[in-house]
Amino acid sequence: MKDFIYTYPVKVYFGDKAAAKALPKELADVGRTVMLAYGGGSVRRSGVYDEICGYLREAGKEIVDFPGIMPNPTYKKVQEGAALAREKKVDFILAVGGGSVIDCCKIVAAQAVTDQDIWEMEFQKHSYPTEFLPMGAIVTASGTGAEMNNGTVITNEETNQKAGVLGAYARFAVLDVAYTMSLPAGQVISGAFDTLSHCMETYLGSPREVNLSDEIGEAVMRNVIRNIRVLLQDMENKEARTELMWASAMAENGILKIGKVTDFQAHQIEHQLGAYTDCNHGQGLAVIHPVLYRHLCRENSGQFARLAREVWGISAEGKSQEELAEAGVLALADFIREIGLPSTFTQMGLTDKSVLKKVADSCNLTAGCCKKLSREEVLEILMECW
Ligand code: NZQ
Ligand code: ZN
Repeated sequence: MKDFIYTYPVKVYFGDKAAAKALPKELADVGRTVMLAYGGGSVRRSGVYDEICGYLREAGKEIVDFPGIMPNPTYKKVQEGAALAREKKVDFILAVGGGSVIDCCKIVAAQAVTDQDIWEMEFQKHSYPTEFLPMGAIVTASGTGAEMNNGTVITNEETNQKAGVLGAYARFAVLDVAYTMSLPAGQVISGAFDTLSHCMETYLGSPREVNLSDEIGEAVMRNVIRNIRVLLQDMENKEARTELMWASAMAENGILKIGKVTDFQAHQIEHQLGAYTDCNHGQGLAVIHPVLYRHLCRENSGQFARLAREVWGISAEGKSQEELAEAGVLALADFIREIGLPSTFTQMGLTDKSVLKKVADSCNLTAGCCKKLSREEVLEILMECW
């Protein structure tokens, strides 16, 4: 794949030495104080931190460190970041990490410039921030596509919610696969599965008739499946990792969603599971998807059957539409086993079955890909995941 620059509202610098190209240019017109936000230390170990600090110093910036953003970032961490940004009079936030770091910064960017509590504002007053500190994102773990949108997923430990909160768009995103090569194999695969999940949850939304977005989505899904299989043979394969990095962005840059109402019921269930267990996002999705789709595929058998044929390559010969739809769900479950992701919550290491009822009682219910589930049905699905 050739390097390129692409504008969404997020300007994407993609490819070799993308940070060196992006930072001098993008930071030229922002103030001197840059908050450098990152996670638990992987960027320090990989050398990415030092490299980025070098670019910032060359650009004459003063660096304010904001370390320790955890996977499944908490609202408390958001508040810590916002307080630090105010105290140090930060002019620009640079998020360096995976979805968790980027998401946390998108809300820090909003909270730093208002005295209103963002959670209260969005969930009680149903109003959304419009002013932000400017920010940029440097991706070190792809899969979520968090760098491409202004949605975030934040865990509020006080209310036991892991919920979608709207924040800032990054002005620019740096996607250089070299920064992701230190990611552990398990996280590479669970991140790539997250991308596949985003595509499926978009594809299986409404309307049920196939449109251009769906056909592009089919191509992205085939690409993700093929490149995960390449990585199973050779985890260091840069071309496959590069393809997956762009597929991750494609799934969340809005293109696949054009003209569609998306589903994202699997995500809603997984997020609440995360609120109670702090589990890995891609792993949770891997367990939930086949079970959820077993429950739903006959309700929207046309779209599920097309997915089976176009993405999983299953022949329609001798099968009814419903049988083809079910064969696609079985192929998905087989693929999850093939790539070493868990198929049950126990395989994920969960031990407390009592959380399932709490998850069923508290997760958002979307219109679903074809029907709105009842809480009893969600619980049934979760029990089957155990
Ligand atoms: O914290 P550090 O030390 O950096 O370690 C991280 C973390 O432990 C590590 N890591 C990241 N880059 C690395 C690396 N380790 C070695 N080398 C590197 N280059 O990976 C671990 C997981 O990182 P995290 O950011 O949590 O993973 P991911 O990118 O999967 O993000 C998950 C979060 O994003 C949310 C999820 O719910 C979850 O909270 N999502 C955000 C979305 C969005 N904003 O659009 C959409 C998604 O559906 C998702 O819900
Ligand atoms: Zn996701």
